[in-house]
Amino acid sequence: MATNRTFTMIKPHAVAANAIGGITAMIEAAGFRVVAMKKTQLTAEQAGKFYAVHEGRPFYGELCEMMAAGAIVPMILEKENAVADFRELIGSTDPAEAAEGTIRKNYALSKGENAIHGSDSDENAAIEAAFFFSEREMY
Ligand code: CMP
Repeated sequence: MATNRTFTMIKPHAVAANAIGGITAMIEAAGFRVVAMKKTQLTAEQAGKFYAVHEGRPFYGELCEMMAAGAIVPMILEKENAVADFRELIGSTDPAEAAEGTIRKNYALSKGENAIHGSDSDENAAIEAAFFFSEREMY
């Protein structure tokens, strides 16, 4: 059954570019409620675990290094049809293909440094949210 929550994180290059506020403003303007949010930093090992599904892909090493290079801002978001609507709001992985008005169109630098992550399914949203937040932080 579809849930009304998704998971996201603002990536290190976007945090370093002072884009936390700009990106969060786009998220709230699109009708999402911020359920949980924090600023933290992953080790390369933790990034490897988070992105374990991509292990073996040519970009995996670069991805883990990039995700551990600085602070990130993970969030849990709530809205009807959250996973699908959020994927639309963030735009294509490749910023060259991202539509006008999407977060990646505004903030992504490349396929790797693409500003923001968005869960691809309800199941992964729950797993990814639990990676960063305890039950009592998700209210
Ligand atoms: P994200 O939505 O966080 O999920 C997987 C990440 O892998 C993706 O965003 C990109 O940061 C990265 N990624 C996917 N494809 C490529 C690619 N072709 N080259 C470099 N990084 C990629």
